[in-house]
Amino acid sequence: MATMVGTQDHIGRAFNALLELELDSIEAYRAAVARFDSQTYIERFRTFLEEHEAHAGALEERISELAVEPASRADLKGTLAKGKVVIGSLLGDRAILLAMKANEEDTNTAYERFVKRMDIPSHLRRLAETFLEEERAHLAFIEAELDARGDRDEPRDEDDGDDALYSVY
Ligand SMILES: [Fe+2]
Repeated sequence: MATMVGTQDHIGRAFNALLELELDSIEAYRAAVARFDSQTYIERFRTFLEEHEAHAGALEERISELAVEPASRADLKGTLAKGKVVIGSLLGDRAILLAMKANEEDTNTAYERFVKRMDIPSHLRRLAETFLEEERAHLAFIEAELDARGDRDEPRDEDDGDDALYSVY
């Protein structure tokens, strides 16, 4: 699987893993915004970036309730830099869209797993459900753009399609 996020035993660790994924997405989105040629994509991805920043901020605020030290950008520096470099090295909007699709699939999967857990307080579940709706919208936009470009189903490196261009670590 491309992501193990959402499968952690401890609720605090699972919540923190969502935060790590959000911080990672923020770096990927920043790189994508800097790299796209299309002004439409730049504007839309800026909005998505703001939503990821809002998610990360909200998760950081609530992690203390779960007695876990929140993941920080400093802790994740090496990991985040790798994702950023990968996106920054891609040529063309299609390649960036494909990499960001893989990123969003990971994020969607992680939130879907999280909201199905039986051990989460209802207010955290509602929060995660709200974020999941936004993540679904991000993925839907990217898939629609790839469909419109007519090249969404081109062969990929892995036959299961689960291995992200973006996930190099
Ligand atoms: Fe997203």
